[in-house]
Amino acid sequence: MKVLVLGGAGYIGSHMLRYLLDTGQQAKAFDDLSTGHAWAVPEGLLIQGDLLNPAEIDAAMLEFRPDVVMHFAAKSIVPESVRDPHQYYTTNLAGTMNVLAAMRKASCKQLIFSSTAAVYGIPKSVPITESTPPAPISAYGRTKLFMEQMIADYASAYGLRTISLRYFNAAGAHPDGDIGEAHEPETHLIPNILRSMVAGEFTLQLFGTDHPTSDGSCIRDYIHVMDLASAHWAAARHLKDMSDGENAIFNLGRGKGYSVLEVLAAAEQVVGRNIPREIKPARAGDPPVLVADASKANAVLGWQCEHSDLNQILGTAWNWHRRQATSI
Ligand code: UFG
Repeated sequence: MKVLVLGGAGYIGSHMLRYLLDTGQQAKAFDDLSTGHAWAVPEGLLIQGDLLNPAEIDAAMLEFRPDVVMHFAAKSIVPESVRDPHQYYTTNLAGTMNVLAAMRKASCKQLIFSSTAAVYGIPKSVPITESTPPAPISAYGRTKLFMEQMIADYASAYGLRTISLRYFNAAGAHPDGDIGEAHEPETHLIPNILRSMVAGEFTLQLFGTDHPTSDGSCIRDYIHVMDLASAHWAAARHLKDMSDGENAIFNLGRGKGYSVLEVLAAAEQVVGRNIPREIKPARAGDPPVLVADASKANAVLGWQCEHSDLNQILGTAWNWHRRQATSI
């Protein structure tokens, strides 16, 4: 299968690209390197381009002629989206419109889209199924929901087959230890804990211990980035069983939640040190509990998590952060 990975130099996109190459597919990354890294893409497979420049994405699509487009290229930091929604609406919505237009020009009819649990906002009950009504509470979550809806409209009007995958908390690194999570600035819990441990002095800011959970800290469903990659591959294979014009939505999570304090305790075991923490007020817009019901993806895609045990997530992430620190 020929796959164009938009955002293929980013955290999840680069793991996806590696997964596709390892299973013998023909794949290339398209990335503007605004947050992605050229070193995360194997030699010769990066098309550097900007989704906001239609000529660049048109050219990539017409030249490579993919069977499937996987669309990871978006802005994704919740607090930043609240502070500066314009760049989120521009990159995420206009960028996706240009992708869909370029696909039509290249007669590419299959798309898999990176969506997020942020479309659910603060759910009334957990675990969250795909029939939970979307109610995003951040500009980021709204752009992702609008992108999903735009994709579904294009699918039904132009006969595409499209799948939106709503990820819960992506974490972990490639088992080889040469690609992993490298955001700047970093806002996520696990890389914030681990990369600062290798950098020496560190106090984790723990956002909120008065949430309505058993220990007062937020509960999240952490899914290993390699499990996200295998879910995309299962979704790509499922496209052939769909009809033209059909759009499908799947939650991707392990279905098991851990509190921030539980993640900290597990990370202390993995790094073999105490992790100092400082209690801060709850972060605006943090839902207390987000746990997936991924039974639809399990049943329809025939997919299961295989790497998302918390210790495996922390172990691969720790390996990556240590290797990075020694290579600087
Ligand atoms: N947290 C801390 N300290 C930190 C970082 C995070 O206490 O330094 C806490 C957060 O407050 C939250 C939990 O750890 O309670 C997880 O936070 P992350 O930033 O790692 O992840 P989020 O759940 O906020 O965000 C993830 C994705 C988003 C997606 C969201 C859905 O990264 O893209 O889930 O709610 F939108």
